[in-house]
Amino acid sequence: MNEPIPQLPSYDEASLDNAFATLAEEARTTDTTDPEAFRLHWLGRKQGRLKLITEAWLKSAPPEAKKALGIRFNQLKQQIEAALDAPAAKPTTAVQGIDITLPGTLRAPGIPHPLLKTMHEIVSVFHHLGYSTNLGPQVESDFYNFEALNFPENHPARDTQDTLVIANQQSRPSRDRLLMRTHTSPVQIRTMIAQAPPIRIVIPGKVHRNDAADATHSPIFHQIEGLCVDTNITFSDLKGTLDHAMKALFGSDVKTRFFPSFFPFTEPSADVQISCIFCGGKGCRKCKHSGWIELLGCGMVDPAVFAAVTAERRKINPSDDAYNPEKITGFAFGMGVERIAMMLHGVSDIGHFYSGDMRFLEQFA
Ligand code: DAH
Repeated sequence: MNEPIPQLPSYDEASLDNAFATLAEEARTTDTTDPEAFRLHWLGRKQGRLKLITEAWLKSAPPEAKKALGIRFNQLKQQIEAALDAPAAKPTTAVQGIDITLPGTLRAPGIPHPLLKTMHEIVSVFHHLGYSTNLGPQVESDFYNFEALNFPENHPARDTQDTLVIANQQSRPSRDRLLMRTHTSPVQIRTMIAQAPPIRIVIPGKVHRNDAADATHSPIFHQIEGLCVDTNITFSDLKGTLDHAMKALFGSDVKTRFFPSFFPFTEPSADVQISCIFCGGKGCRKCKHSGWIELLGCGMVDPAVFAAVTAERRKINPSDDAYNPEKITGFAFGMGVERIAMMLHGVSDIGHFYSGDMRFLEQFA
């Protein structure tokens, strides 16, 4: 391609036409699939063909021939620039090899993750009862996660929570030390400090515990907390609310029963069991032949919790009396989302939820 520029035999019009016609033909047949190579070949500032032509023909031409040469030179230059601008000069892949009758790449529409879907289902049961949703931070202080919930410092009830603490907090006062929240209950406190009764909220969210992962445990999991505070809230309201919620989630045949339990922030406290959804209560492997499955914790808000909330509210308004336990009562409950999702969908290993395995996730589409 890089032929030397020939000598011009003469400067008469016919010779010039002839010489430029040869170059025009050369330009027309130069490969343009690589536009940058084409541009360098013709327009390169040092070795480009046009530069060489300028050196060989224009510079040494007698003055009377310069105009005729210049006109033809500019035409050639325009032809080359036009070739560079033409779409053909853009890199193209071979058009011939494409079978346009083949179907395109299909992208399946996304679906909510089964855990999020379960959370939405649970939350929406309570939304229908007039509850709203609150969220709180996952990095929490000792005060909200424990102290205000009536877990005194060094109390053994803290051991049940397998807390993951944030490093280098020793120099802080104990109530300000940071940790990964072990439950969603601290958002009860945050809500009551911010807002006077009546309160009806659900709190979905991630919680963290220093638990070894196995088929039913994960160090990070999800809970949904509930809190209802108003005048004349009784244990019957708690029972009716949770009985309705369990029927809405698992089917209207499901029965509930309440067993005495202990949580520092509720008094009395209860564990809620539902009749086994696998055997209908007859007894099977899933319910360990008892006919019942334990599903969540609940209770009446302990007056000590209202007292902690009142102390905080009085820092802003010293006469605040919104959470006077003589005037208001409340109930709270907390449930694990993974456990409910596993029951609803017959999932036997909690790890499936976090594996990102499409063969598992696709089943929820
Ligand atoms: N926070 C408790 C836990 O994670 C669950 C719980 C029990 C929450 C009873 C409540 C409740 O609100 O009333 O173990």
